[in-house]
Amino acid sequence: MGDNRPIGVFDSGIGGLTVVHELFNHLPNESIVYFGDTARVPYGSKSPDVVKKFGLQDILFLLGKNVKLVIAACHTVSSIALDELNQIFHLPILGVVEPGVKAAAKATKNGKIGVIGTRGTVSSRAYETKLAKISADIQVFPQACPLFVPLAEEGWLDNEITRSIARIYLDPLKEKGIDTLILGCTHYPLLKKIIAEVLGPDVTIIDSAEETAKLVARRLSLLNLEREENGSVQHKFFVSDIPHQFREIGERFLGTDLGNVTRIDIEGEMSDTASDALKIVPPIK
Ligand code: DGL
Repeated sequence: MGDNRPIGVFDSGIGGLTVVHELFNHLPNESIVYFGDTARVPYGSKSPDVVKKFGLQDILFLLGKNVKLVIAACHTVSSIALDELNQIFHLPILGVVEPGVKAAAKATKNGKIGVIGTRGTVSSRAYETKLAKISADIQVFPQACPLFVPLAEEGWLDNEITRSIARIYLDPLKEKGIDTLILGCTHYPLLKKIIAEVLGPDVTIIDSAEETAKLVARRLSLLNLEREENGSVQHKFFVSDIPHQFREIGERFLGTDLGNVTRIDIEGEMSDTASDALKIVPPIK
């Protein structure tokens, strides 16, 4: 018995499409409902309370679309608010921190792991806390890279300015002797080529998006929530502002037609649908 409901994915904007890209690769039979909060991006520079509130509203919106599982594709939300959000809702909410942490702990040989993310993610110390639980011998070297987000959004993925900024952020990590680097932000997989070039061949780069998709595949199978293969797959994309821009960049990035990208008023919608959405939460955890 399968479950044909879609998977819900949310992010502060376009960056979570890096996770969608990996879901397409690893779970091609699953339908996806994506919400990108393009009106309120960036989350990475907001206070923890605001990030929690936004995460809550984003999940409520997805619940209104009858999703079977939610992926908080945003590292800032995953770092700051995932545990609390999981206590509120009765369906699985998976974040992007845990999968990256596990893969990095497995990959490191010298126990020195770098983590790059937004200021919010780095301040939360979520990666340090989770890595410390795996091994007391692991040393974590965090680095906020706030300029990487606008560079990725601008499509400056491989030029001299991006390379210089990457050197400023990453040289100190290289000097610490890290052998593994976690890409702790939705946008950073887009800059993977330059990051790898700056760090050199001895540093393993952990792409959390791919690890997250693998975790989702395992969780769906464990919970018997995999989709029956005979129905047709349908993806839906929602944003809180400027849908045409999201569609343009998203289609370029995913290499596929996104169809209609619908604009919603996230604050307004939530006051109407929150109570209905909470009623349909399935007790599967
Ligand atoms: N999506 C955010 C993250 O992964 C990056 C962009 C933002 O600051 O909102 O942390």
